[in-house]
Amino acid sequence: MVGAGSSPPSLRWTTLLYFLVLLCALITPGVSVKENDFKRCSQSGFCKRNRAYADNAIALGSEWQAPYKIPSEQASFKDGQFKATISKAIDEQGNTVRLPLTISFLKSGTARVTVDEEKRREKDIELRHNSKARKERYNEAEKWTIVGGLDIDTNAQVAHESKTGIKIKYGPELAFEADITYEPYSIEFKRDGVTQIKLNDRGLMNLEHWRPKVEKPVAEKKEGEEGQEEKKDETPEVNPAENESTWWEETFGGNTDSKPRGPESVALDITFVGYEHVYGIPEHAGPLSLKETRGGDGNYEQPYRLYNSDVFEYVLDSPMTLYGAIPFMQAQRKDSTVGVFWLNAAETWIDITKDKESKNPLALGVGAKTNTHTHWMSEAGLMDVFVFLGPTPRDVTKNYAELTGTTALPQEFSLGYHQCRWNYVSDDDVKEVDRKMDRYNIPYDVIWLDIEYTDDKKYFTWDGDMFKDPIAMGKHLDAHGRKLVVIIDPHIKNAGGYHVSDELKSKDLAVRNKDGNIFDGWCWPGSSHWIDAFNSAAIQWWSSLFNYDKFKGTMENTFIWNDMNEPSVFNGPEVTMPKDNLHYEDWEHRDVHNINGMTFHNATYEAMLSRKKGELRRPFVLTRSFFAGSQRLGAMWTGDNQASWEHLGAAIPMILAQGISGFPFAGADVGGFFGNPELELQSRWYQAGAFYPFFRGHAHIDARRREPFLLAEPHRSIITSALRLRYSLLPAWYTAFYHANRDGSPIIRPLYWTHPSEEGGFDIDDQFFVGSTGLLVKPVVQKDKTTVDIFIPDDEVYYDYFSYKKLPTAKGKQVTVEAPIETIPVLMRGGHIIPRRDTPRRSAQLMKFDDYTLVVAVGKKGQAEGELYVDDGDSFDYEKGQYIHRTFKLEGSTLTSTDAEGRDTKSIEEGEWLKQMHGVAVDKVIIVGAPSSWASKKEVVVESEGKTVSVPLDYHKADGSRAAFAIVQRVGARIGADWTITFA
Ligand SMILES: *[C@@H]1O[C@H](CO)[C@@H](O)[C@H](O)[C@H]1NC(C)=O
Ligand SMILES: *[C@@H]1O[C@H](CO)[C@@H](O)[C@H](O)[C@H]1NC(C)=O
Repeated sequence: MVGAGSSPPSLRWTTLLYFLVLLCALITPGVSVKENDFKRCSQSGFCKRNRAYADNAIALGSEWQAPYKIPSEQASFKDGQFKATISKAIDEQGNTVRLPLTISFLKSGTARVTVDEEKRREKDIELRHNSKARKERYNEAEKWTIVGGLDIDTNAQVAHESKTGIKIKYGPELAFEADITYEPYSIEFKRDGVTQIKLNDRGLMNLEHWRPKVEKPVAEKKEGEEGQEEKKDETPEVNPAENESTWWEETFGGNTDSKPRGPESVALDITFVGYEHVYGIPEHAGPLSLKETRGGDGNYEQPYRLYNSDVFEYVLDSPMTLYGAIPFMQAQRKDSTVGVFWLNAAETWIDITKDKESKNPLALGVGAKTNTHTHWMSEAGLMDVFVFLGPTPRDVTKNYAELTGTTALPQEFSLGYHQCRWNYVSDDDVKEVDRKMDRYNIPYDVIWLDIEYTDDKKYFTWDGDMFKDPIAMGKHLDAHGRKLVVIIDPHIKNAGGYHVSDELKSKDLAVRNKDGNIFDGWCWPGSSHWIDAFNSAAIQWWSSLFNYDKFKGTMENTFIWNDMNEPSVFNGPEVTMPKDNLHYEDWEHRDVHNINGMTFHNATYEAMLSRKKGELRRPFVLTRSFFAGSQRLGAMWTGDNQASWEHLGAAIPMILAQGISGFPFAGADVGGFFGNPELELQSRWYQAGAFYPFFRGHAHIDARRREPFLLAEPHRSIITSALRLRYSLLPAWYTAFYHANRDGSPIIRPLYWTHPSEEGGFDIDDQFFVGSTGLLVKPVVQKDKTTVDIFIPDDEVYYDYFSYKKLPTAKGKQVTVEAPIETIPVLMRGGHIIPRRDTPRRSAQLMKFDDYTLVVAVGKKGQAEGELYVDDGDSFDYEKGQYIHRTFKLEGSTLTSTDAEGRDTKSIEEGEWLKQMHGVAVDKVIIVGAPSSWASKKEVVVESEGKTVSVPLDYHKADGSRAAFAIVQRVGARIGADWTITFA
């Protein structure tokens, strides 16, 4: 749903005016609303100061004296933790500020470096403007984000210690090392003796300590932090790093931020030594391999920004902030992956530059080595950095997942197709769309209702004229296993007699303004208040609102969509809340902004768990705003995109970035939210969307109706085939989600992640693998394109998924694949076995007890392996062993199925679902690349559960256009049981 786009009928003139301004700017060529509505670094006081600080330090080179040091007598290492106090020189009189430092070495091999600021005399942090804000650095980001992995590694040990520093060995087999230098303070992280990551190597660390405001009439007085280039005369040309004009107040777009605590930013340089590629820090619309940000050919001028925002019609290829923020970055070089997680919820900017070390004549070794330098700047809070030393992408992913949690195992239906638009206007409209989908045999699982279903944008109510009988509508959908998702946003209409608003106020659960009064802002309903989901009492209250008997018209097949939770505030600074607003326990909005959306998503998730006593089902909640940890709560989508080829192309790197950043349940609005896609674009978008982990078609209120059944042929059929492909592969998708749930692995995977040795793939972000299925996909994202070049990352055999054509071996090269409009370029990597369900049905639920097909793509050594995970797709019974998890293996001439976890499945006490699965079999096995020695075989032997039967084998010799393949029909072996098929 759009933050501000067109003008629905019920809005008042002020809002209309706002829309008008946006609209005018939109139609004025060359003026970009989005870019002017949001800050550039130079318009964000702390970003400007820190960039200037960096420029100054870098310009001074070896002359630069970083003001942070550790007095060695205050440093100690004990039980896996290094503790010290960093002292920051703040003036020429030798005054210092004390910054407690803790470096924790965790059992997982992750190191955590936390710097706080010691509370000093009260008067030093006297708050201005009579503010009630907390006088501490925000230290609860951990509470919302971290769910495990913090156990300390007591085996970590001192390798060397002196007056100037300490070296600590830690991690697996003590292969990791942290070399801490005391003066100036810096840390070098090594693996197997080789430097990987350096903190404060360039001396850009800057922790703006709290200070009292000194009222001084003269222009500028030097703070003296830098102790450099003292000027005799007080010219207005102050080093911008020391420019105090934005210390105590800051204005942007007519909004003034009273900054009651003054300057308090934290900044640090992090260098990835020898690494040319860095990835992550979503959400941005740009390439997966992040660009440099300080100008130069093809680079950005602005740092990547993380400040969750409702960006109206976002621009592509930009470091601009979007709706969500995950401050986790990975660096990649051949055979090595490392990463950092910057745990901070305040506005954050990240500069990236690269250099070639060969420029340095002293550099050893041949060939240029590229270093990637990053500079992290956050407005407030602790400096809290987790360092991951890999060495594989999988290791880094797993270590990050241990800290922030993994994707919740989803509702199975949510992997199907979702049909959305702003808006399906009535219950009859919903039923009609549903009937039409059936009439044209188009599968889908969920139909969605945007804001117009409500009575005047009052959530938890229905527009009684248009939705006369929501329960009848819900039952109609349920009859063929379909669901309804309705939108619930965090802004609560400020209207007397509206029970939600009344309770929010009387229970005092709303976000407050800087004066401590309930905050009033403008959003869809007009004047609104915002639930403060940082407050556990608010979560409890919110939960009660979703009970079936309270939110009338909802039932078991109703699920929820959370939008606008950045939060979007139409009349707020940068379309969000003032930073000096106050949350629970008096934390400023400034401190918590990027976590805000996650707390609301969390409250809704918790609410979905308790709609009815005794009902234990997995929630499904879609969110627009997110932070590290949101993956535990549901799915996300990339917000308000446009019906353009460029947006279709941009979606893939964005979804890949989500995947490697721990939040892989991601998708983009299929068809594009704004505008009307031409038929070819819409078809191509469904083909791409069939490979998004979250697959939803959506459209703006002003866009023409474009449900798949409305389209002219051949497009209706093309889209229907893409949907059927998605549905037949649901078992493979669900298995990929299972892995995401186990260890955080991405659901669609970029090549650097699957092939960290193949440098040619490191900047490829338009093709990807689906889980560990070996399916390699490159959707067509350009108009009139009928071929694609697919990069082949290894020397395995690759087959076309549809034609079984064997591709030429091409490790490290591109192979051209035909892709006429009815075709999605999908390859099968040899050596994999893919589970499918081939009976076409109307919804995922109706396929629950269908038989399986296994597709075996024979690898270059004649082998293949694959996996299936399946459970009831709805309850938490999987936690009690109620699931089927198989490994399939082709070795020589036998194909076997065994329990993937080596469980004795006979000893599992079977619940209802497992019992029903007794009737589900492997029906068909297709062996692509079947050996020619099988050509004369007419039968194969299937052994299972003590029975041996012969079934027919249908062998097809290779011909010019495709590999040999064989089909075994009516296998009949139970999916949950062990079985063997013998081909020889
Ligand atoms: C400080 O920065 C502000 C805004 O960027 C600018 O207008 C002002 O001239 C600067 N002051 C000095 C003393 O350089
Ligand atoms: C939601 O937040 C509450 C309060 O912090 C927490 O106890 C709970 O575990 C969170 N839920 C999830 C699923 O992370």
